[in-house]
Amino acid sequence: MENSSQPMLESDNLTKVYEDGVKAVDKVSFQIYPGEVYAMLGGNGAGKTTTINLFLNLIDPSEGEARVDGIPTHRRPLEAKTRMAFVSENVMLYPGFTAIQNLDYFARLGGKTRYTRKDYKEVLLRVGLQEDAHNRRLKGFSKGMRQKSGIAIAILKDAPAILLDEPTSGLDPKAGREFMNLLENLRNEGKAILMSTHDIFRAKEIADTVGIMDGGRLIMQKKREELRDADLEELYVKYMGGLAEEQMKSDNPS
Ligand SMILES: Nc1ncnc2c1ncn2[C@@H]1O[C@H](COP(=O)(O)OP(=O)(O)OP(=O)(O)O)[C@@H](O)[C@H]1O
Ligand SMILES: [Mg+2]
Repeated sequence: MENSSQPMLESDNLTKVYEDGVKAVDKVSFQIYPGEVYAMLGGNGAGKTTTINLFLNLIDPSEGEARVDGIPTHRRPLEAKTRMAFVSENVMLYPGFTAIQNLDYFARLGGKTRYTRKDYKEVLLRVGLQEDAHNRRLKGFSKGMRQKSGIAIAILKDAPAILLDEPTSGLDPKAGREFMNLLENLRNEGKAILMSTHDIFRAKEIADTVGIMDGGRLIMQKKREELRDADLEELYVKYMGGLAEEQMKSDNPS
């Protein structure tokens, strides 16, 4: 684990108001250092994907900024992009290409031209894609198999920051477990990892910091030490419920 004074990923007062007026992300600030995993929890529509999309510069912030390695992603998008690898909830790869062809295509697109077939096979085995699938076309892959291929591409990019939007959502229990081991390895290699998830138990297991979002706001953030003896599910319900109650009180003042 590295000891670095600058966060690899930083959200600084990050705010996004969509064109229709929805405030999807509201003054969110957090830091992720090299060798750390940050797990973001929160109900549907809480603002998790929007936060990740702001880091990836798929959308512009309304206020504040997202930085990678100190670089504001919306001001210097090209420099920022080389430092981040992304695995989406629905990995979109080329259906007519085989797994190996997809890896080769995306590696070259990212400027990595030195990888060999052996490297591709190695990384596919590392993410748990069975050997007989390496030369099959993606269009016959299950969601989990596509997910694994996407993770392999992210690993090949060898970026210092990895962002994952619900990465375990399509994985079977065995693949989910393997995936957690993989994330742990990447963390130990010094990657800074931001993941959104609905899986409270995995979040507690893997994360150095857990954040809970609700209505665009980061309503709870706790470090591993603070969570050690805590029941995260109970905390989640408490925080979400607490806010709902507050809302009801302000809607119906007695
Ligand atoms: N392109 C868009 N235009 C307008 N509003 C949007 C857009 N994308 C998301 N939103 C709104 O922003 C809010 C946050 O959505 P977001 O997708 O970030 O939530 P999420 O936490 O990822 O939810 P989920 O757990 O369902 O994936 C929601 O109210 C959503 O309706
Ligand atoms: Mg989402």
